[in-house]
Amino acid sequence: MLLEMKGITKRFPGVLANDGIDLEVEEGQVHTLLGENGAGKSTLMKILFGLYQQDEGEVLLRGKPLSIGSPSEAIDVGIGMVHQHFMLVPTLTVAENVALGLKSGRGALTDLDAVSKRINEISEAHGLSVDPSVEVWRMAVGERQRVEIIKALYRDATLLVLDEPTAVLTPQEVDDLFVILRRMTDEGRGLIFISHKLHEVMALSDEITVLRNGAVTGHTRPSETSREQLAEMMVGRSVKLVPDRPHVTAGEPRLVIKNLEVKGDRGTMAVEGLNLDVCGGEIVGIAGVSGNGQKELAEAVAGLRRAEGSSHIMLNDVDVAQLDTRKRRDLGLGYVSEERMTDGAIGEFSVSENLILVDHGSEKFTKGKFLDFKAIREQGETLVKKFAVKTPSIDTPVSSLSGGNIQKVILARELTAKPSVMVVAQPTRGVDIGSAEYIHSQLIAQRDVGTATLLISEDLDEVIGLSDRIAVMFEGEIVAIIPSEEAERDKIGLLMAGVFDS
Ligand SMILES: Nc1ncnc2c1ncn2[C@@H]1O[C@H](COP(=O)(O)OP(=O)(O)OP(=O)(O)O)[C@@H](O)[C@H]1O
Ligand SMILES: [Mg+2]
Repeated sequence: MLLEMKGITKRFPGVLANDGIDLEVEEGQVHTLLGENGAGKSTLMKILFGLYQQDEGEVLLRGKPLSIGSPSEAIDVGIGMVHQHFMLVPTLTVAENVALGLKSGRGALTDLDAVSKRINEISEAHGLSVDPSVEVWRMAVGERQRVEIIKALYRDATLLVLDEPTAVLTPQEVDDLFVILRRMTDEGRGLIFISHKLHEVMALSDEITVLRNGAVTGHTRPSETSREQLAEMMVGRSVKLVPDRPHVTAGEPRLVIKNLEVKGDRGTMAVEGLNLDVCGGEIVGIAGVSGNGQKELAEAVAGLRRAEGSSHIMLNDVDVAQLDTRKRRDLGLGYVSEERMTDGAIGEFSVSENLILVDHGSEKFTKGKFLDFKAIREQGETLVKKFAVKTPSIDTPVSSLSGGNIQKVILARELTAKPSVMVVAQPTRGVDIGSAEYIHSQLIAQRDVGTATLLISEDLDEVIGLSDRIAVMFEGEIVAIIPSEEAERDKIGLLMAGVFDS
């Protein structure tokens, strides 16, 4: 047995994050950890990697008891970890990032040429194409993911933990990653994989361990289960994997985008003369491979990125293209950013403060000149319950919540603001399926009462499941608009790849 974790218990103030967890991983095996947001997956892995110390329980590697006090000790015994949130330094090159923290990595003394050479060998051997001399900020997320894996391989990890490595990848990038991971297990390495996407879990896993509330609640294999059963094991009830979407007649256009031009981070045009309408009572979903201007489109509509002078963004007949975010909000715009920690939440603020972040001046939460703390607390308690945000209390800082629960806080806030137009980017990225079901039902409920929603998601099933019309985006333009009745996964996939004549 490569790894045995026995009776692992870990407490945080007010939370029993791991409650006597047993986990065994064999050589050459992909062992998946599945569980709701806040179930304790990352905590267990951080114990394994020496970032947290367990309160109880033991860890054995090849039968030998280990006490891992820090990540460098974990690396020394051959444990690698690709974290849920990237840990690379954007301003450094790939080689510099890999060299960081190496035993020989004493600043200027590190032989970067030797590191680069070894990176090239590893990328060759594992089919991970990466240029060691490129700075990380220039790279797409899929490439950054490969750098994280190269970093682990460079340190010769025999046990690699991948904490939601696919959350930010496109379907094509996921396929590529799985090929790489399979090659690693063929060499006898063991992998621990965490994902909320059940089709991935079914495709990649040898063994699956299900966690709920910090404890193991089940154990299975893909051949013995189904996506529906996995969902039920996780959540403890049956879950609708495809949302119900009753027919609604769309109203007047509420968001009208004309000739939108937006520059990307690299200064080149990312959105090029885009035209699109979204009507009240309608969800328009953008389907596209990431990097085709979706992010820039969403940010330009929200007012976080400048639209070029000739662009028009009409919000309920007012051109907001040159207005700031605050004014756009006042005119009825809601926005759920894909960058949840930077644009959506303030880590040091409590859950209840984050739940009213943009609403703090509104009459609901003020009494005369003062904040109405009772109303704020009530709102906090209600939303935490409705959206099943897992937190010890509404006074807990958002930064100590699990990834998926932070996303739920932002969605809860934006959806209750009753926006007339809503831009939602990657609403369920990193969110567990039980919560995804609830978020989907809320987006549809908003649509049913007349909100115009522009949905941007890399999850094509989500786009097809939620949208009344699907706009395919390619190289900064809308290349096709498909009503939901005519939506075919394969056809949309080809359009996304730029194949227009078939
Ligand atoms: N450093 C910390 N301080 C306080 N509480 C923490 C800390 N880290 C995790 N927790 C709590 O422990 C519980 C388990 O969190 P963990 O991050 O392990 O969940 P997870 O299964 O990885 O969830 P997700 O799918 O959302 O990433 C949560 O209730 C979380 O709020
Ligand atoms: Mg996690």
